[in-house]
Amino acid sequence: MKERIEVLLSAEQIDRRMAELADELYQEFGDEQVELVCALKGAVVTIVDLAKKMKMPVTMNFMSVSSYGNSTESSGNINIKMDLDADITGKNVLIVEDIIDTGRTLKKLKELLISRNPKKLKLVTLLDKPDRRVVDIKADYTGFTIPDAFVVGYGLDYAQKYRNLPYVGVLHFEE
Ligand code: XMP
Ligand code: MG
Repeated sequence: MKERIEVLLSAEQIDRRMAELADELYQEFGDEQVELVCALKGAVVTIVDLAKKMKMPVTMNFMSVSSYGNSTESSGNINIKMDLDADITGKNVLIVEDIIDTGRTLKKLKELLISRNPKKLKLVTLLDKPDRRVVDIKADYTGFTIPDAFVVGYGLDYAQKYRNLPYVGVLHFEE
């Protein structure tokens, strides 16, 4: 099977949307410090590009939770493989996601972070696939709402490949 990628969101489109999101987040947090939290690895490109556009002081924090493995289907349970090294109690926390699909991963992650009593907890995602949702979770800020297709690039992978593409594309399999 040959893999072909059809561009869905160009690098320029994403860059413009990131700047808009940074402005919206400034309305939310003002000049207060924000602890950005991202789950490895998919959201890494988003956290970096968004952080560069944010005007308030931010810290970058990473967790590792298991999700898709090498397949394109969600397993349904998440497992914390690496936890935050910072205490978020009383802090402004912004979860930065690459994509919300079924929402299972994120729901668990959000519950975990809320249990640590942040001052404020908000969620931003680059992409949202609402057609796929099986649990009740909504992002406070969404870059793009996309149809139910498997996408790669801008941090998103298929079997660890394509994370470095500067755009988001739909992955097609062909004979
Ligand atoms: P759930 O289903 O828990 O899954 O919302 C979220 C995680 O699944 C991965 N995911 C994708 N990865 N292309 C990808 O490369 C996709 O279209 C896709 N949909 C879900 C991703 O890691 C996300 O954080
Ligand atoms: Mg992810």
